[in-house]
Amino acid sequence: MSMKKVMVIGAGQMGSGIAQVHAMAGIDVILHDLKQDFVDRGLSTIQKNLNRQVEKGRLEETKRDEILSRLTPSTDLQNASNVDLVIEAAVENMEIKSKLFTDLDKIAPEHAILATNTSSLPITEIAAATNRPEKVIGMHFMNPVPVMKLVEIIRGLATTDEVYEAIEDLSRTLSKTPVEVNDFPGFVSNRILMPMINEAIYTVYEGVAAPEAVDEVMKLGMNHPMGPLTLADFIGLDTCLYIMETLHDGFGDDKYRPCPLLRKYVKAGWLGKKTGRGFYVYE
Ligand code: CAA
Repeated sequence: MSMKKVMVIGAGQMGSGIAQVHAMAGIDVILHDLKQDFVDRGLSTIQKNLNRQVEKGRLEETKRDEILSRLTPSTDLQNASNVDLVIEAAVENMEIKSKLFTDLDKIAPEHAILATNTSSLPITEIAAATNRPEKVIGMHFMNPVPVMKLVEIIRGLATTDEVYEAIEDLSRTLSKTPVEVNDFPGFVSNRILMPMINEAIYTVYEGVAAPEAVDEVMKLGMNHPMGPLTLADFIGLDTCLYIMETLHDGFGDDKYRPCPLLRKYVKAGWLGKKTGRGFYVYE
């Protein structure tokens, strides 16, 4: 199954990164979002990333222009009618994703695979919104996508081996390392990462240490590239809360209960780097 043309839905942080790595691997990409503004912002992020590579002497200008020419903006979902793969990186909301997948199932060619970049929602439930559950799969990239090597590939209950293998091959073409995971809340990445972040927040909530101290312990003591609270700010505290709630609902176990301080920050609109304030203040 060759992937010549891919549509990425959602031009935010994740979607634009996903579009960039496909274009860099020589694949034509349609970058789709609801509004032209959103698509333009995504394209401009990609352009900035590539320009930085040119400035550092790692990418030739002609190569940059070639990569950019493979990206086509879109605000019309009908553009999915001639693609081999759709990767959805829209908002983390089951209702929105189900509706999108029902629509895509009607528009995309019969052979097309429908993938979702969801960080924790059940692939099997998203697949059930289509008449092609065997061609629906989770393709979970990590942020920042151009830098992080992992693609967590999640099989839904009905996903075929052929579809799994096509996505595994594609991930390698993107110079990423695929890891196979079954469909349970939070998969592997967020089942382990989010409780660690939640525990770091409890540590601050209970007055054990200040955010800076918690982060310093994990950075210097465990060799993590960023402390868990800096990482939470980077991911978005609303996203962290949403994933903790998905784990809590999915497993029903108290060990996944979101920390009250996380809820408080999200209610205050302190969502991390993107709003200028989370555990830290950003200028
Ligand atoms: N987009 C593109 N490239 C970026 C980038 C971005 N947003 N941020 C950094 N980079 C690039 C830089 O340009 C630089 O590239 P070169 O080496 O080619 O010069 C490289 O990454 C290193 O950047 P810096 O030197 O500025 O900073 P750093 O060494 O601290 O690295 C980092 C930055 C890669 C983000 C590093 O801090 C890190 O690995 N942090 C942890 C990231 C992580 O855990 N991600 C997973 C989040 S969880 C998730 O995504 C899943 C989910 O479902 C929630």
